[in-house]
Amino acid sequence: MTLSFYVHIPYCVKRCGYCDFNTYTPNELRAGGDIASVSEGYVDLLIEEVNLIPESGPIPTIFFGGGTPTLMEPMDLGRVLSQLENKFGFADGCEITIEANPDSVTLEKLEALHSIGINRISFGMQSANSHVLKVLDRTHNPENVAKAIDWAKSAGFAEISVDLIYGTPGESVEDWSSTVDTALSLPITHISAYALIVEEGTKLGSQVKRGEVVMPDDDLTADKYLIADEKFHSAGFDWYEVSNWAKPGSECRHNIGYWKGVNWWGLGPGAHSHMDGRRWWNVKHPNSYRDRLQEGESPMLGEEFLTDTEKESERILLEIRIRDGIGISSLDSEQRSRLLPFLAAGHLSNEWWQEGRVILTQSGRLLADQIVREILL
Ligand SMILES: C[S@@+](CC[C@H](N)C(=O)[O-])C[C@H]1O[C@@H](n2cnc3c(N)ncnc32)[C@H](O)[C@@H]1O
Ligand code: SF4
Repeated sequence: MTLSFYVHIPYCVKRCGYCDFNTYTPNELRAGGDIASVSEGYVDLLIEEVNLIPESGPIPTIFFGGGTPTLMEPMDLGRVLSQLENKFGFADGCEITIEANPDSVTLEKLEALHSIGINRISFGMQSANSHVLKVLDRTHNPENVAKAIDWAKSAGFAEISVDLIYGTPGESVEDWSSTVDTALSLPITHISAYALIVEEGTKLGSQVKRGEVVMPDDDLTADKYLIADEKFHSAGFDWYEVSNWAKPGSECRHNIGYWKGVNWWGLGPGAHSHMDGRRWWNVKHPNSYRDRLQEGESPMLGEEFLTDTEKESERILLEIRIRDGIGISSLDSEQRSRLLPFLAAGHLSNEWWQEGRVILTQSGRLLADQIVREILL
């Protein structure tokens, strides 16, 4: 048995208006503190959690996510990696990713991150338009992205990804096209593009509720997906999951693992883990996480065991979104017949259906959630 690892870094300099991730600013944690002081000792806690994990085989993938992992000292992240390597070993070609906010890196930092073994970096670019970044309440300006990516390349990163967001209030189709073109002009190998989700309780959520900003029409947002897909495809980036495109061979193996239901351990506050149908999650706040580990206790807050039916629903929900799709033989005859209208309308690939697989076409990718609901009725 092998485990992939997700390592959560729950700190950001400032909270972006749309984000409800489990992340904290120094102000939220301790008035007047800076990131270095609020995160002091955090890596020791992650190492304590590693010590609680049962033995397993060499690690295939590791992902530092957040929050903003690039706010941590590379040497400290290196201590987490050494602990994981000493305890489990790394599989050949172990993929080690870090998420980065373009504002939180320098050439020296990127060189240091590369030298500790991190071999893949994903930048939160979001948009190339200042007015869109302003609505998203981001700290970075568009120029920082190109600079950060050039540094990443010079530092030796061969696998560089950007995250984009489309469907922001005030974003025109031209704005989005220019964001896609700008991303494609950068030396990257991978792109994630997500439609903006308005989360309740966020600053953006309140602005939308009060009518201060207006969310664009769903049809316009769907058009933006199609524009991006065409442009990515023409530039040699193929879709391999509904929101992810890569040059051949540059797909993110860590995320493919999630979609295929592998076993992974999430380290850090609020992190989720999965082993053979058992799922559990850690206490959410960094202070509760610290208290648990300092008492020598597990940080686990809750757990659930999936029934066979739940495992099957989860498999379908995740696999329909990836390029390999679902084997038709794994569906019962009623589920298959409920898919026939989608096949007839061109939302499922006819060619692949003949080969025994349910694979979304471009128009089908826009209807992924509806198609899943139909299969799982
Ligand atoms: C942890 S962040 C990436 C690293 C870094 N914190 C940053 O934002 O630059 C993960 C990604 O999730 C996406 N994301 C977060 N909240 C979202 C939302 N409400 N709707 C759509 N995408 C969202 C953003 O594209 C973001 O880059
Ligand atoms: S920097 Fe990233 S994790 Fe932090 S608030 Fe913004 S989107 Fe969320």
